[in-house]
Amino acid sequence: MDAKERFREIAPNYDKEIVKIIPYYKQMIEALINIFTFNNYEYINILDLGCGTGSLTQKIKEKFPNSRITCMDSSKEMINLAKKKLWDYDNIKFIIADFSDFNFNNDCYDVVLSSLAIHNLIGDEDKKNLYRRIYKALKKNGFFYIADFVSASSRHNQRLYDDVINNFVKKNSMKEKTLKYRIHREDNVHPKLVDQIKWFEKVGFREVDIVFKYYTHAVFGGRK
Ligand SMILES: C[S@@+](CC[C@H](N)C(=O)[O-])C[C@H]1O[C@@H](n2cnc3c(N)ncnc32)[C@H](O)[C@@H]1O
Repeated sequence: MDAKERFREIAPNYDKEIVKIIPYYKQMIEALINIFTFNNYEYINILDLGCGTGSLTQKIKEKFPNSRITCMDSSKEMINLAKKKLWDYDNIKFIIADFSDFNFNNDCYDVVLSSLAIHNLIGDEDKKNLYRRIYKALKKNGFFYIADFVSASSRHNQRLYDDVINNFVKKNSMKEKTLKYRIHREDNVHPKLVDQIKWFEKVGFREVDIVFKYYTHAVFGGRK
């Protein structure tokens, strides 16, 4: 099953299940949003890559009601759920597209963000290529922060990370159905966090930082 099919299948129960497989999911999203130092009523331009059911965009709208947000996702099913969830908010544009080859406008966004989506680009070069294109798409001083899966710097630590997460998933739900939602590392080895930080710096991002980390997942990014 490829990623697109998997997301089509999991879309209807996504919001209920994600908190059972990602410890501190809500805190992770909070950490991602807290980083943006805008006045709450500013008219900022935001791009949410792999918006899924729109939870992140909803939280941004609650904090920055005047923001204009572009929600991008390659899954029609996810975009439809996001449209439903975000029905009451204005200035949200929905685009069904693949961010791996989307032609972003240059110098356009105050913020580009993404949660649990970019790891779906399997190769390191694809991720680096996306980071370069996002850098161009940002306005000067714009923020690029992501919440995503990362690997440890040693095998020993990776075993520890995997044990912690597997125990969390087992404790929360032994149901086969929930286990299917897991992002299996066997078919997608996530880059080490320390390497991704170097990639960000090489692309040109400054003030690169890690603002949240819990074993397998982290929130990190920088500014143009
Ligand atoms: C695990 S969900 C995360 C959804 C949401 N950001 C959240 O944190 O709840 C990943 C989302 O990324 C989307 N996605 C994965 N690869 C993508 C790509 N190359 N282009 C656009 N969307 C993609 C999937 O369709 C899915 O909706």
